[in-house]
Amino acid sequence: MNLSAPPSSLPNSTVSIDLADRSYSIAIGSGLFDNPRVYSELSAAQSALIVTNATVAPLYAQRLQQALQVKYEKVHVVVLPDGEEHKTWQTLNLIFDALLQNSCDRKTVLFALGGGVVGDMTGFAAASYMRGVPFVQVPTTLLAQVDSSVGGKTGINHPMGKNMIGAFYQPLKVVCDLGTLKTLPARELSAGLAEVIKYGPIADLDFLTWIEANMDALLAQEPTALAHAVKRSCEIKAWVVGQDERESGLRAILNFGHTFGHAIEAGLGYGEWLHGEAVGCGMVMAAHLSERLGLVDAAYVQRLRTLIQKAGLPVVGPVLSNTDNAGRYLELMRVDKKAEAGEIRFVVIDGPARAVMRTAPDAMVREIINLCCTESV
Ligand code: NAD
Ligand code: GLY
Repeated sequence: MNLSAPPSSLPNSTVSIDLADRSYSIAIGSGLFDNPRVYSELSAAQSALIVTNATVAPLYAQRLQQALQVKYEKVHVVVLPDGEEHKTWQTLNLIFDALLQNSCDRKTVLFALGGGVVGDMTGFAAASYMRGVPFVQVPTTLLAQVDSSVGGKTGINHPMGKNMIGAFYQPLKVVCDLGTLKTLPARELSAGLAEVIKYGPIADLDFLTWIEANMDALLAQEPTALAHAVKRSCEIKAWVVGQDERESGLRAILNFGHTFGHAIEAGLGYGEWLHGEAVGCGMVMAAHLSERLGLVDAAYVQRLRTLIQKAGLPVVGPVLSNTDNAGRYLELMRVDKKAEAGEIRFVVIDGPARAVMRTAPDAMVREIINLCCTESV
């Protein structure tokens, strides 16, 4: 990938995502989300709706509401239940209820204040309320700042498969306030680091090396390290999405580790493992598969496994069935959106910083699952 790797300047920076008339900017820094000037460029509307959840609302909703009241006459707030298990039609309806109860018109701007769950659901609500209203992402988890708030994938889960119902719908703006990460639990920080690590093996070897050298600083939330990790991740995601917004090809590389990861999430029950934890472990599995396919060597697989473990993420796959564990993984992975005619397509690494799509015989995938669900890999 031909991307310049500028050391991110502090305190605030901007990454642009270039999608013709759907282009927008990602503001990264501190003291942003409750600063009214950050929102001044947005087009005028009478009302705004902040969508948040029961954990984030007491921390940040009032401050965002006050900032938005400078621009909008009415700023409503809807508080959703917290958790991946609530990323459902029922919860989505709470957003529509709030919009209708407050007589919100088609200029109403939705603000997603929270992690990826809130962001994905708010985006889907914005895509469908009155056939489309504008929305802004204000991500408050590391995972949402480096991945889910950028690129316009929105949606909800179905009991049979993760993120199976949704739409591509781009936000007007993304506001990544690093200050909000101070209240993030350590386990959630690690989950976000999984998506940061992902960008190394799929696109940028220098970034992978930088993450290895700075993992302690990232875990300690050292501001300069966090700012660089968020900025570089957003640059790589913007570069990929700018070329393939609707995932007709290249964008699938962003799903490295996700095919195995989604099976873990659905198989254990949503919310049991965090999305980032499942992706971290899924990347270990996908790396082993890459090696088995002859694309990378064992040393590189070990390098990734060590980094993922150092980030505080699980590297041994959970047992999803006591009778036929590998069979259960395969069954769940066939529901993946990348599957074609029932054939699972894996994102694998083909060299140290390049990802490609490959199929693999079931017997080989079974071998990898058996290996990766065993403590002594
Ligand atoms: P999440 O939204 O569940 O947030 C994690 C937890 O942190 C929640 O309990 C939340 O209430 C809490 N929280 C959020 N901000 C906080 C803060 N500042 N301080 C304290 N607590 C805070 O999970 P997530 O990891 O942010 O996102 C995972 C979701 O994102 C999954 O549903 C996944 O499918 C989705 N996702 C989507 C995309 C995409 O491109 N749209 C990409 C990656 C992941
Ligand atoms: N997180 C995968 C994507 O945005 O395509």
